[in-house]
Amino acid sequence: MKLLSLLILLTFCTSIYAQDIPCDSSLVIVDEPIAISDTIASSNSLFISSLMSGSPILVQSGVVICFEEGFEVSTFVVFEANIAECESMFSMAQVFGDNIDLTNLENYANQPVPNYVNEDNTNGNPISDLGATLGRVLFYDKNLSVNNTIACASCHLQEFAFGDTALASVGVNGTTGRHSMRLINSRFATEEGFFWDERALTLEAQSTQPIQDHIEMGFSGGEGDPDIDSLIRKMDGLDYYPILFSEVYGDNQITEGRMQLAIAQFVRSIQSFDSKYDVGRAQVGNNNNDFPNFTDSENRGKNLFQTNPVNQNGQRIGGGLGCNRCHGAPEFDIDDDSRNNGVIGVIGDPTAVDLTNTRSPSLRDMFNGSGALNGQAMHDGSLTTIAAIIDHYNVIIPNQDIDNRLRGGGGGPGGGNNNGQRLNITAQERIDLEAFLKTLTGNDVYTNPKWSNPFIDALQ
Ligand code: HEC
Ligand code: HEC
Repeated sequence: MKLLSLLILLTFCTSIYAQDIPCDSSLVIVDEPIAISDTIASSNSLFISSLMSGSPILVQSGVVICFEEGFEVSTFVVFEANIAECESMFSMAQVFGDNIDLTNLENYANQPVPNYVNEDNTNGNPISDLGATLGRVLFYDKNLSVNNTIACASCHLQEFAFGDTALASVGVNGTTGRHSMRLINSRFATEEGFFWDERALTLEAQSTQPIQDHIEMGFSGGEGDPDIDSLIRKMDGLDYYPILFSEVYGDNQITEGRMQLAIAQFVRSIQSFDSKYDVGRAQVGNNNNDFPNFTDSENRGKNLFQTNPVNQNGQRIGGGLGCNRCHGAPEFDIDDDSRNNGVIGVIGDPTAVDLTNTRSPSLRDMFNGSGALNGQAMHDGSLTTIAAIIDHYNVIIPNQDIDNRLRGGGGGPGGGNNNGQRLNITAQERIDLEAFLKTLTGNDVYTNPKWSNPFIDALQ
């Protein structure tokens, strides 16, 4: 392990100091300061032989020695001034191994986005590779919870499209009141309000609310909890945050605002555009055309999804199912005018009613690659199968705040009775709609290391 860290350190330091120093090969830190004298040679040969034999050697802070490629020269230069920075890199290597390489960052800033996708809520916080890297660390760091047990990623799991299969997710003080949301393509939407009820006005504003939530991560500043300033003091004491904040912002000051920018960049970077839908969409000029790579059933499902129903007296007598009115292709994000969809339950309380939920995550990656749902559907997790989802929209029970589009008509051509939408979905239409929804699932987002846990310690 030590040797591994040392090799990593060697890589870091080489690339960092290559321009600053009069030799162009490698830098190492040895266990204690060494005078520029014959002791260097012996110490160096000890180091080299350890490297060659693969046996572990003790590495601590000390002096930085530069020596040339091939370990063959006899002259050495000591650069004490660089020790602090080299040590920082060493701390990074100890925490992240080679999961994070500040000299060779993952690409978050310039990921390809299909030309048919136009919606974007980035606003004034464009993704940078460094910012999103800091965001990734914050997202996976359990130190951001009051008892070091919960990270954002505890409830937003990469393998479930950054959602959760638990009905209510576990936080530091109990379980969440709503079902955890998938975080796919959050950037590609005009809707800026986040959470099921859109109470966070931007993704930046959203990103530190879980940390300050008593149940989720516990730095609420109330209910006996410490506040976010005490979290910031805690982060100051962890070696890697001053380093990372300096890299991103030019100085090591940690602020809530800086955390928000970085976390939001990471969340916006989570994108999924390699689905069967995308392959087909790229081959046609227009979403309404049949996709050449789709089965007949998938193409029929696409039509059902995006065509409005034709109603008579509140009953659908033709047309499609009208999903696209609210979950618009090709982003499948939520219409920013949507009101509730008739799902009004509350987790854990069968008699309570919640009419405030007007947002849905993108319908992309609802299913995983094996066709299973990535967790229960809806804010109360009440719909656990695709059949139940289709049943819900087939017969809508209205409420005072339900979206007008689901009231079952009322006035206008084909107007109805406001008794709630009746889609009269046939067995074949169910099959087709499900087949289409499954084409919205990608691959890369589930496994790409750039969105994975960067901490090497299994406890993190
Ligand atoms: C204990 C579980 C838990 C933790 C920890 C948690 N979340 Fe969430 N997250 C949820 C739940 C539940 C919701 C939906 C809450 C609601 O709407 O009231 C949610 C919603 C969100 C949303 C809104 C998505 C959308 O489309 O509107 C984002 C973004 C998000 N979380 C990011 C984060 C980040 C970043 C962190 C860490 C700082 C985090 N979450 C920590 C459970 C959690
Ligand atoms: C009037 C707007 C509207 C229409 C039309 C609509 N939906 Fe929704 N949909 C919503 C809202 C709002 C939510 C979030 C509801 C909640 O959890 O309270 C939602 C949630 C969902 C979810 C759950 C997403 C998740 O992550 O849990 C699925 C699946 C879904 N809709 C599918 C459909 C399908 C299929 C159709 C067409 C038959 C459709 N919707 C029509 C507004 C709409």
